Amino acid sequence: MKQISSLALILFFLSISTFAQPYTIIPEPQQQTPGKGLFRLTPNSGVIYNNNQLQFMAGYLADVLTSNAKLAIKAKQGSTSQPGKINLFLDSKANGGKEGYELKVSEGSVLIKASTPRGVFYGIQTFLQLIPANGSKDIPAITIQDAPRFPWRGLMLDVSRHFFTIDQVKRMIDQMVVYKFNLLHIHLTDDQGWRMEIKQLPELTRVGAWRVPRTGLWWERDCPQEGEAATYGGFYTQQELKDLISYASARFVDVLPEIDVPGHSLAAIAAYPYLSSTGLNYKVNPGCKFYTIEDNALCVGKESTFEFLDKVFTEVAAVFPFEYIHVGGDECYKGFWEKCADCQKRMKDNGLKNTNELQSYFIKRLEKMLEQKGKKLMGWDEILEGGLAPKASVMSWRGMDGGIAAAKENHHVVMSPSNYAYLDLYQGDPAIEPPTYSMLRYKKVYEFEPVPDGVDPAMILGGQGNLWTESVPTFRQAEYMLWPRSFALAEVLWSPKSSRNWDRFVQKTEAHFDRLSKADINFSTSVYDAIVIPSKDANGQLQIKLDTEIGGLDLYYSFDNTYPDHHSSKYTKDELLSIPKDADHFRVITYRNGKPLGRILTISLEDLSKRVKK
Ligand code: ACM
Repeated sequence: MKQISSLALILFFLSISTFAQPYTIIPEPQQQTPGKGLFRLTPNSGVIYNNNQLQFMAGYLADVLTSNAKLAIKAKQGSTSQPGKINLFLDSKANGGKEGYELKVSEGSVLIKASTPRGVFYGIQTFLQLIPANGSKDIPAITIQDAPRFPWRGLMLDVSRHFFTIDQVKRMIDQMVVYKFNLLHIHLTDDQGWRMEIKQLPELTRVGAWRVPRTGLWWERDCPQEGEAATYGGFYTQQELKDLISYASARFVDVLPEIDVPGHSLAAIAAYPYLSSTGLNYKVNPGCKFYTIEDNALCVGKESTFEFLDKVFTEVAAVFPFEYIHVGGDECYKGFWEKCADCQKRMKDNGLKNTNELQSYFIKRLEKMLEQKGKKLMGWDEILEGGLAPKASVMSWRGMDGGIAAAKENHHVVMSPSNYAYLDLYQGDPAIEPPTYSMLRYKKVYEFEPVPDGVDPAMILGGQGNLWTESVPTFRQAEYMLWPRSFALAEVLWSPKSSRNWDRFVQKTEAHFDRLSKADINFSTSVYDAIVIPSKDANGQLQIKLDTEIGGLDLYYSFDNTYPDHHSSKYTKDELLSIPKDADHFRVITYRNGKPLGRILTISLEDLSKRVKK
């Protein structure tokens, strides 16, 4: 009896603490202990910092408070913690290592303490999330100890398929750092555009940065017509990139440049046709089919290819201070190498058995080239094919297997498997989302585990979400694809694995939807939509099951071409719906607490039939 009552008491307090939990910090801190009372932000709540190195971020904090909380808050240097103020302290004895921090909000003051400026910066981000989104200036007392799980917390933006301005990339950095990402991988080159000024190779941007304008379905577009002007595109001067890098660096974001070779090189080849095995003139690709038809791979047989790359990487290494350069290596179509006399000679001279080994030869030479410039090489997991370069690091995208194999050979790995971390994929039903390749719902991203069983965790630097932009023509759409899925990545990469809790994370997500709305940042609400699961019965008749990503939703549907609402048929969990005779469309909407929440999905039954796996 005594046991039962103490268990009941524990459950009671657990439920109180769950319900009373007012904090919605993403990513979840390592440890947080609610305190008593509130700290009230007032016009006198200045920011005090104890070290010159914190001057920028003290100003940053004061600016954000001034604009968000509408209080004219000033930053001042001072050597001791002051009552009523937000105190930023660099303290070599603070807990949390290189990126961690301690944060104490009490009635009297706020103290953010870390052994590095970076740690203080993350403490500031957490503090800003403690300020209620509803405009209240009362911040509940709390003590937080925090540090990240992984040192590599990245997002990639593909600026080749669609071009984004430096200001837009800065805006992305502003958004990333709120969630403690520390790495921006910028995919600077591809078949659809070369985006970095290389002073010794001016055609790369004069020709390679521009393609004919097209909208519509990627890979279904018209190829460039004879004489058609290439007017869509753009590039970054080295000065602009340096400005971007210093903006990122002030916010503790490293910028990883990617020059994608030897495949994905059509823009460079359009600028300098001698670079490919065929030597033919091609145009920068606008999203029309060209793979295996046009030669988008650099010729590995000719020395001139390596002379070209030496010029490129000399300038890339001089502009980007980050220790790594990403050389791509993915999806190289090697068919033209098979027919290229120079490539064949290279293979013969070096005893290379096949074109995978030729690619490996190429990457190994790049590794030496980068080493001479003081840089380390990273590539997509295809660089394993034909043998990994001795010190290369691998970014695993075709699932985790490449990363596992590389880690087992003692190479560092960044996990960015497409099935958990590709932010270009559908996040909701294809009937109402922009066309793309396959599905990656929010919940699945939250289930990402970067350290596979049996792998030494020390070899896994961390993980990364990749935003490819074939179907992302605007920055607004980039935001839609980034958020909220990058919330999930942030929590996977920063927070202790043991703290993951989907239901709680959904509550936090909703609080952050409010914050994004207020900041006019676009995001997807697909997580509120129904999931439609078609199948066929034993007689081949279509049937439909419904589900939702989050709990607590009601589903209403129709087959009669009316828009469903709470007067329509209500779905019962796990029910199998059969199709009324002659129905041609299925519609479904979600409700919560009697109010419409998700978007109406309208899907033709023909499409649903096609979705059923054979
Ligand atoms: C990739 O998605 N091709 C790296």
